[in-house]
Amino acid sequence: MSNLLAKKPLHAILNEAGETGEHSLKRALGPTNLISLGIGAIIGTGIFVLTGTAAANHAGPAIILSFSLAAVACVFAGLCYAEFASMIPVAGSAYTYGYATLGEFIAWIIGWDLILEYALGAATVASGWSGYVLSFLGDFGIRLSPKLAGCPGTAFVFFQGHWERVTMRLDKALAAKHIDIATLPHQYSSFNLFGFLGIMLVTVILVIGIKESANFNSFIVIVKVCVLLVFLGLGINYILGHRAEAISNWTPFLPANTGHYGDFGWSGIATAAGVIFFAYIGFDAVSTAAQEAKNPARDMPIGILGSLVICTILYILVAGVLTGLVKYSSLDVADPIAIGIDQTGVAWGSTLVKLGAICGLSSTMVVMLLGQTRVFFSMAHDGLLPKWASTIHPRFRTPYLSTILVGICVATVAALTPIDVLGNLVSIGTLLAFIIVCGGVWMLRVRGTDVPRAFVTPWIPFTPIMGISVSALMMLSLGKETWARLIIWLVIGLFIYFFYSRKHSKVQLAIANGTPNGTPRAKSMAD
Ligand code: ALA
Repeated sequence: MSNLLAKKPLHAILNEAGETGEHSLKRALGPTNLISLGIGAIIGTGIFVLTGTAAANHAGPAIILSFSLAAVACVFAGLCYAEFASMIPVAGSAYTYGYATLGEFIAWIIGWDLILEYALGAATVASGWSGYVLSFLGDFGIRLSPKLAGCPGTAFVFFQGHWERVTMRLDKALAAKHIDIATLPHQYSSFNLFGFLGIMLVTVILVIGIKESANFNSFIVIVKVCVLLVFLGLGINYILGHRAEAISNWTPFLPANTGHYGDFGWSGIATAAGVIFFAYIGFDAVSTAAQEAKNPARDMPIGILGSLVICTILYILVAGVLTGLVKYSSLDVADPIAIGIDQTGVAWGSTLVKLGAICGLSSTMVVMLLGQTRVFFSMAHDGLLPKWASTIHPRFRTPYLSTILVGICVATVAALTPIDVLGNLVSIGTLLAFIIVCGGVWMLRVRGTDVPRAFVTPWIPFTPIMGISVSALMMLSLGKETWARLIIWLVIGLFIYFFYSRKHSKVQLAIANGTPNGTPRAKSMAD
């Protein structure tokens, strides 16, 4: 049992970081850079796609309350992430924090769980990206065969000279023309080709290796934010001229529950919060830059909270305007923001939104898949995953084998799985990581530790308790299927841990050999 709690010595973590050059990073980031880093990682498929899905299926116009609820969990968890990040400022995120402070078993669970956040997160973003690519190409008359235009089971009907995806919106349009949808030719997709290609493209970029450039990130951030601001400008302008229409779309603000938990009503707000929580994922990218911050004690909370506050305000405004422009029941489409802007009648608006989404979501895919390869690299380096996963390419200096394997798996998952199934699994996995991180910060405070940190989470135990409670509430609202998938995932992880990782763990081997860099040093760290 005690071996399960074996910790990786902090000095070993910092030495390794030194070997890989992480320590040579310059302290160059100020508060504005950190906020921009956060926004770059945060804005993506969540706001561009899942807002529509969640409003149409769970909350209606009250989706703005769901955005507020999810933001609360992120703020509290973000403060806890910041403390860990400033204490152990190296790559590997929550996995590395967990290994140094909570022990190997918890670290394994976090690492395994982070695969849901990063790998499936990349697949979710790819799925959203493909929706916007298809819609953009469709505007120019370029259409893929329905077989390759969605994950298996996505229905298409032949209408007005082309194949169109079946949505509630199409249903309504057909009903208005007194056309029975059953009388139209049908086809079902079997593979989301663009979702697959999007991830493969990102994989190639990651294998070749990109120097993450602050300028490029700032450019993408400006594009994403500007597209949302243009949407708001055009939308608000239209709503001011069509107030009665907007009020009718916003009514009822909170549609009555249908009798099923999570289908509208108050439970719908909680479920929608769990779904659109995905839209906030990525702010932990700020915490991983703790070591590059000029003044982490002051700037980490500014970076984390600043990017969260800006995104929360943007999200609430976009969701409010979107549900005012289009009836929420019509928003269950692949490109809801473009549908919203179409309503304003501004012809170039839709093209701009689609181009902005395609460009903006590409960078989110890169951040997610890069995060995944870093976690795999750290786990393989510690012996918890096979050694080949940390093999570095001699020329590109990237962990190419694991990147290629992860890329192929993620691309296949993106091509075969519906976006809502993916998004919910990412949300539940990330919420679990939040709970462990919040619990870890609290536990270390109770036990006491002499490890210095540049940033200290305020209001302990209130902050972690709030982080844990709101995250748990959202997890509980995510439905039985999502829970079943999470449990299956964790059980597979436990098998791998007990039958492989534990036997190959470098920390466990050090304990067995009684080497000085093993347990004794580790024990003294957190005790
Ligand atoms: N928050 C990111 C997105 O919405 C992951 O795509």
